[in-house]
Amino acid sequence: MAAVQVKYRPVGVLAVLILLSTLVVISLKSNRKTREWKNDLQPTRGALRTVPDCPGYCACLRYKDPGCTEKINLVFIRTDRTGSAALASMFHRFGHERKLEFVLPRGGEDDLCLGWPGPVQLKHYRPRHTHHFNLLVERTVYDKRALHGVFPHGASYVTVLREPWAQFKSAFHHYRVGTVVGIQGDDPIAEFLQRAQLYDDVFTSPAAGSQRPEVPDGVSVTRNPMAQDLGLSERSWYNVTAIKQHIKTLEEDFLLVMITEHLQESLVLLKRLMCWRLQDILYWPHQYTDYPLRLDNNSDSQHKHREWSLADHMLYEHFNKTLQHKISKQGEDFHMEVDHYTRVLRSVLEYCQSDQKTYMVVAASPWNQEFVLSRDFCRRVRMNTQQYLNVFKTSYQNLWPGTQ
Ligand SMILES: *[C@@H]1O[C@H](CO)[C@@H](O)[C@H](O)[C@H]1NC(C)=O
Ligand SMILES: *[C@@H]1O[C@H](CO)[C@@H](O)[C@H](O)[C@H]1NC(C)=O
Ligand SMILES: *[C@@H]1O[C@H](CO)[C@@H](O)[C@H](O)[C@H]1NC(C)=O
Repeated sequence: MAAVQVKYRPVGVLAVLILLSTLVVISLKSNRKTREWKNDLQPTRGALRTVPDCPGYCACLRYKDPGCTEKINLVFIRTDRTGSAALASMFHRFGHERKLEFVLPRGGEDDLCLGWPGPVQLKHYRPRHTHHFNLLVERTVYDKRALHGVFPHGASYVTVLREPWAQFKSAFHHYRVGTVVGIQGDDPIAEFLQRAQLYDDVFTSPAAGSQRPEVPDGVSVTRNPMAQDLGLSERSWYNVTAIKQHIKTLEEDFLLVMITEHLQESLVLLKRLMCWRLQDILYWPHQYTDYPLRLDNNSDSQHKHREWSLADHMLYEHFNKTLQHKISKQGEDFHMEVDHYTRVLRSVLEYCQSDQKTYMVVAASPWNQEFVLSRDFCRRVRMNTQQYLNVFKTSYQNLWPGTQ
């Protein structure tokens, strides 16, 4: 995860005095509020748990930006092996809490995709039963025109990219590429990249189909997988001009391209751009098990991988830069908010992993109002895509009996 920079602002004596008097007033008020919460919620036993407040000069007044309205229409383009699953679950929870309408795969329990490995079409999703769709989170390939058909009223487009070499190693392991194509030896990655085209043809062939159950024939999981999901067509994979044009289009179409290596910063930026609350960007990190790939920092392999997956590298380098640029245009409290968010997230994960039966109160800060989390929140924050889709599809069926 990204390092978090903590900055403390020097505070003048006068400011301290003003703040102290403000804080007295606030603490009187918030005491009363906490007591009301307690009465409302009737925690079963034990004391309320409170997260330490934001550091230093906390005036705790800035959380409400008057010009800011919560945005609820969102298209999230999932990418593979990038942490997308954790983010998808976060978006599912957001929509579920607000009873928003998701674009749902048409099929039953096993159908988790919206057209992937192609763009979404009418036949892939269930008819809407409200005014219009709010969120699309399931797997699809980005296609401006196809998505405009589903969201004619507009939506904010968001995706996430991971450093391609790390993404490649994760995919290589997850899809057991070495085993499927029959590579033996100490460094299967180096061997694969020696003859990448040959091995990829084997991996994507129908003959290997039974060995790679998650991936349809003809889909490469090692060559530009992120660029594929973002709609770069195969004929442009090695055409630098076309890749640059595509990057420019994505730059215009997407509100935010998050970066796995800077996930906390990305999420705080998302919160600001969407006018969401701190609790909306809490997520359950997926535990990736470590894998025993030796020599996985072989620089020759890394060099070959850059050639093999050129579009992914160009995409990542570009959007890694633009993320930093967007962050640099945020106020100077941005890194303090990231730091605060990171601490709250850590406390929430601890709380949810513990067996405490009480509620958890997260204190107000310059970036959030006080909020209370329950054990039920813990249950929901851990739900995965399959579980959320089951919930959504069941309630869809109840609304429209006779549909799948
Ligand atoms: C590369 O892409 C550009 C822009 O799309 C196109 O004009 C050019 O013909 C392409 N070059 C090749 C060799 O396909
Ligand atoms: C990278 O590989 C070299 C051997 O080529 C090894 O000595 C070094 O410890 C490795 N570094 C990391 C960070 O794994
Ligand atoms: C991504 O951006 C960070 C911060 O600016 C930088 O340190 C890192 O080297 C960049 N990574 C790549 C692969 O460009």
